[in-house]
Amino acid sequence: MALFCRTAALLLKPGALSSTLSVARQYSAGGQYEYILVEKRGENQDVGYIQLNRPKALNALCDGLMLELGKALDAFEADGTVGAIVLTGSDRAFAAGADIKEMQNRTFQECYAGNFLAHWNRVSTIRKPVIAAVNGFALGGGCELAMMCDIIFAGEKAQFGQPEILLGTIPGAGGTQRLTRAVGKSLAMEMVLTGDRITAQEAKQSAYELTLAEGNRLEKRLFHSTFATEDRKEGMTAFVEKRKANFKDQ
Ligand code: CAA
Repeated sequence: MALFCRTAALLLKPGALSSTLSVARQYSAGGQYEYILVEKRGENQDVGYIQLNRPKALNALCDGLMLELGKALDAFEADGTVGAIVLTGSDRAFAAGADIKEMQNRTFQECYAGNFLAHWNRVSTIRKPVIAAVNGFALGGGCELAMMCDIIFAGEKAQFGQPEILLGTIPGAGGTQRLTRAVGKSLAMEMVLTGDRITAQEAKQSAYELTLAEGNRLEKRLFHSTFATEDRKEGMTAFVEKRKANFKDQ
């Protein structure tokens, strides 16, 4: 499903971004979107273009951003003139993951009862091809979001990783399942168990085929259950307080 390619030059040409931004502002001038820029691009205006736009938080995927992304995807899905969708971030970050500051004080009960992150998979259910143009950090939920897309074009500065273990939790939006398919079990295990990042070149490996649905359900429940641990709280609190986490295996 996810194909890691060498360059995003086509989509991230110097100068292209500023003209994109001005058109995108016009497109979202109605104040519809706060966290993303949305426009139609291409010679025939048939490419739906969505840029994640929370630069100060490295495009961390807060609830508001994910709701807006769902809305924009729905609009492009319904627009008969749009043939494909491009999802991108900035040179520095595609997305640095789910918003840790928002998650920090969540409880197990809230996560489990509310099926936290359940709505994140909209990207993977869109029927039109979605292309992720990735540069900079694609970490945690950012890596998972990219892998939900049909194709990944990765720039030279792209870094993929699932660093949730460093926060005392696990990937919760398909990372354990899709990463295995994208880069193979061995490298996926190494990344998920160490939090180490890889470049686009390193990501190019043969794919594994697994049944996604069961794996994703199990993963979601395990992710929720990390919110019942002291270490998950400590990991996220340490990040917010800019200090090293003091894990106690509890
Ligand atoms: N959530 C909330 N804020 C984040 C964030 C995140 N995931 N990632 C970065 N930020 C914020 C930082 O808090 C910081 O904000 P302030 O200036 O207000 O403190 C700002 O973005 C810039 O970040 P840094 O100063 O840390 O920048 P850096 O260049 O030193 O480091 C980084 C960059 C390596 C990406 C580092 O920010 C980092 O490790 N981020 C967290 C990555 C992560 O753990 N992602 C997984 C989240 S959990 C998840 O996604 C679960 C899931 O499966 C859905």
